[in-house]
Amino acid sequence: MPTIEMLTELPGPRSREIIARKERVVCDPLDLHVNSVIDHGLGAAVTDVDGNTMIDFSSGLGCLLVGHSHPKVVEAVRRQAAKFSHTDFSLVPYEVYVELAERLVRAVGGDRKVALFNSGAEAVENAVKFAKAATGRPGVVCFEGAFHGRTLLTMSLTSRHTPYKRGFGPFASEVHRVPFSYPYRSADPERSGELALEDLRHAFAAMIDPRSVAALIFEPEQGEGGYIVPGPEFLPGVQELCRQHGIVTIADEIQSGCGRTGRFLASEHFGLDPDIVILAKALGSGYPLSAVVGRTKIMDSPGPSAIGGTYVGNPVACAAAIAVMDVIEEEGLIERAEIVGKAIRSRWEDLAGDVPQIGDIRGLGSMIGVEMVSDRSTKEPDGDYVGRLMAETQRRGLITVSCGVYHNVLRHLPPLVITDQQLDEALDVLADAALAARGS
Ligand SMILES: Cc1ncc(COP(=O)(O)O)c(C=O)c1O
Repeated sequence: MPTIEMLTELPGPRSREIIARKERVVCDPLDLHVNSVIDHGLGAAVTDVDGNTMIDFSSGLGCLLVGHSHPKVVEAVRRQAAKFSHTDFSLVPYEVYVELAERLVRAVGGDRKVALFNSGAEAVENAVKFAKAATGRPGVVCFEGAFHGRTLLTMSLTSRHTPYKRGFGPFASEVHRVPFSYPYRSADPERSGELALEDLRHAFAAMIDPRSVAALIFEPEQGEGGYIVPGPEFLPGVQELCRQHGIVTIADEIQSGCGRTGRFLASEHFGLDPDIVILAKALGSGYPLSAVVGRTKIMDSPGPSAIGGTYVGNPVACAAAIAVMDVIEEEGLIERAEIVGKAIRSRWEDLAGDVPQIGDIRGLGSMIGVEMVSDRSTKEPDGDYVGRLMAETQRRGLITVSCGVYHNVLRHLPPLVITDQQLDEALDVLADAALAARGS
């Protein structure tokens, strides 16, 4: 039995009515990417208010690694919500916070401590605060193509100006941006990692005093920037350089962490041991939760009450996260990421002969991106093709998302609980849509 069942064009009449109401009362910048209003979801499937059932390759932008409404997560949330839903942990503590912290320390490894927050951006802000407190330095180094959030500091750390930064300056000071290794667009793809490392060395000699830098923040595989996997020598070299200069390394694993890449942390693919790791998204399965997991010495640096927040480490979200970690282990989802990723990659490789727009297929585990170009020799980005492709997938009942500075990368974020049959069905839709979008 196929999962996808489309009863109406999108949006159906009930979705259309709700979207019209939304337009009257919700601000315009919160524009919609899918023309359909969800009623319920289960695993990799979502059903909208008109009864259309679709496969979700967006996972709420990477949050639903264990799928929509996983029964274990639902049960954990229900149980915790019935007991108590809030105290403010530093006022009246609770065990689920401590238990989750223990689990995260074990998962990341080493002599570490944890602080929990709500959003990814809030965790990034706090990771930088820990690094500043530990080093007594003001600066932060970040990369071209990076995405770290939308608050003042994290927007300043984010690379792309439009739509994220335009009109919102002035930005935080002491933020320094340097090139990231981007093999596909490097003048010398084989040496991309080496060349970007040389850029960082040069920046430390010519522009940025490394003694003024508290932290360097990186995504092991860039997310919003275009699912970019740096050359293999790049991040180990960056880590070494930071150690030489006493700079705290912060791995932003908000999108890449919790098993999405076939390891618990994407950093593991490069043999890294970051001083601070940030997790969010998949960890809470949609309940607002983020974690800073850092070396004990760094995490204990700020003074009493210098870190916190009313809602941080909400007990219902903590209970959900413990259930998520159980499900990842019990259902072998880290291993599943490799299998899902291989299936996605090989389908795109099969299509490459018929779809000239396919420029680069890349990614770790299931975090696969396909960069589209209008000409393979000039590598001219083709964001319009990705727009058409996404419209075609949506029409056929598959929810997809894009990324990339030029909006020309299709990213794949399926729930890893997706069944083999659903995965095949989704990839068939993707293939049909890729062919249909070619010549329109
Ligand atoms: C790598 C990365 N860092 C930070 C963020 C910001 O997280 P949030 O939207 O929860 O603030 C995101 C969100 O997409 C992300 O992908």
